[in-house]
Amino acid sequence: MTFTAPLTLPGLALDPLWYRRAVFYEVMVRSFVDSNGDGAGDLQGLISKLDYLQWLGIDALWIPPIFDSPLRDGGYDISDYHNILPDFGTIDDFRELVTKAHERNMRIVIDLPLNHTSDQHPWFQASRADPEGPYGDFYVWSDTDEKYPNVRIIFTDYEESNWTFDAERRQFYWHRFFSHQPDLNFENPAVHEAVFDVIRFWMDLGVDGFRLDAIPYLYESEEGSGESEPETHEFIRVLRRMMDTEYPGRVMIAEANQWPAEVVEYFGTEEDPECHMAFDFPVMPRIFYSLRSQSAAELNRVLSETTETPEGAGWGVFLRNHDELTLEMVSEEYRQAMYGWYAYDPRMRVNIGIRRRLAPLLDNSRAELELAHALLFSLPGSPFLYYGDEIGMGDNIWLPDRDASRTPMQWTPDRNAGFSTADPGKLFLPVVQSLVYNYSLVNVESQLAQSRSLLHWVRNVIHVRKAHPAFGLGGVRVLETDHESVLAFVREYAGSGTQFGDAPERVLCVFSFAHNPVSARIRLDGDNGQPLWDLFGGGAFPSVRDDGVLELTLATQSFYWLHLGDRRG
Ligand code: BGC
Repeated sequence: MTFTAPLTLPGLALDPLWYRRAVFYEVMVRSFVDSNGDGAGDLQGLISKLDYLQWLGIDALWIPPIFDSPLRDGGYDISDYHNILPDFGTIDDFRELVTKAHERNMRIVIDLPLNHTSDQHPWFQASRADPEGPYGDFYVWSDTDEKYPNVRIIFTDYEESNWTFDAERRQFYWHRFFSHQPDLNFENPAVHEAVFDVIRFWMDLGVDGFRLDAIPYLYESEEGSGESEPETHEFIRVLRRMMDTEYPGRVMIAEANQWPAEVVEYFGTEEDPECHMAFDFPVMPRIFYSLRSQSAAELNRVLSETTETPEGAGWGVFLRNHDELTLEMVSEEYRQAMYGWYAYDPRMRVNIGIRRRLAPLLDNSRAELELAHALLFSLPGSPFLYYGDEIGMGDNIWLPDRDASRTPMQWTPDRNAGFSTADPGKLFLPVVQSLVYNYSLVNVESQLAQSRSLLHWVRNVIHVRKAHPAFGLGGVRVLETDHESVLAFVREYAGSGTQFGDAPERVLCVFSFAHNPVSARIRLDGDNGQPLWDLFGGGAFPSVRDDGVLELTLATQSFYWLHLGDRRG
């Protein structure tokens, strides 16, 4: 397969708001392409697919941890922050990845778990062996397992306590995740220094930003919940100041799976900013809820909440990622409804969430896949795709934990789905061979050969989005509709007047979650009589009526993106 890349000058465009215009793609290196036939993906494999990603329209890659690790938590258990897992390649391979991505104007964002390390990390080994030594205080130790009683357990399927007894040091150590992942002690200034060193090391290698993994959990307190404690925010502010001074233009992305009001705090304030971006955990489960409940009310509500965010801050919108579809931050009633719709087999659940991929969640319905993607690409924020979802890859719920949706990328109908030349038995995880999602049917090559495939559809939507800066840079205004299944909002952008020459524009986005065709009236007061044009084909739509009402009919689970106002150019 060859992809013809558009002619671009090598190197990154100087755009301070690049992360707000960007389409991100989460790629697990281990799962993407195996270049040396050892059965697991690697950096050279990823480099070989940069043309594909550029063709798709991807502007930035988010790469889950590639550091040295015993791989007991998909690499989120780090044993050496300064080295790459040999299975994945070398630091030189990583340099090559950064250079080749930058040549394509594509950014690299790495994942950085700072809250914890692997118990195999030399810091932990030294800490447990020598309480008085330089690393003695690097982790959170206690003589009892009774401290911090208000802190919840996150991996409820695997852990009974956030404390584990260490037989060598004869004390308990604190861990928010697996017991083999001890939490670093952020009360210790030496930990801050060590962590800053790690960040500088990767920034100096040219990465464009990092995801602050599990960031709410850095500090714990006797009274608090151990999540989003004031000291945690203070640490992030100090980190941001260092980044702005030493590495301007690089971004920090918060993974804060918290209630809506708390997630916003990870942006900080205008005077004292924290992260440039935060994943939109509040909106994600509500997209899935709307698809099955046929009600737009919840999305309407979260989008209408006005949240003050500093200039330049942006959301990261996603449908799925390498973790379970988390239901921690929805009410019990919604959680039970979502389990019933999406995880009717107990095997599909893990912890407080659902370990399935997008296409199986949506029962492979093309209409739902298109509707979900249309939301992903038009909600306020930058979209994050999960590798394989662009071809509607399936999952394997008979694999343990979140491996269910981390199987090898399906490139071709050939051996190992074109992922690897290894003996199939040697693969780190088997390729999906299920009835519906078998790699011989679902793969990049065959979808490239079908002009109506999901892959071509997703690529087209990405390119339409990128042609309209209102999606990345504009504000959002939620509109009143008279149909409970219909969501409508306007993305509006005043234009930048910068060297990018963005003109002002407004895009009306309308979505129907109904499982039958509907007709709806949308209030567009102030836009009385304005014309509307379809963003995809350019076709003229009925104008907004003189009384400020727009009347539309929508097919089952469908959407419109309409240019509002006189057509440009
Ligand atoms: C990552 C998970 C990981 C956990 C512990 C998370 O937030 O996304 O994949 O298991 O951190 O490191």
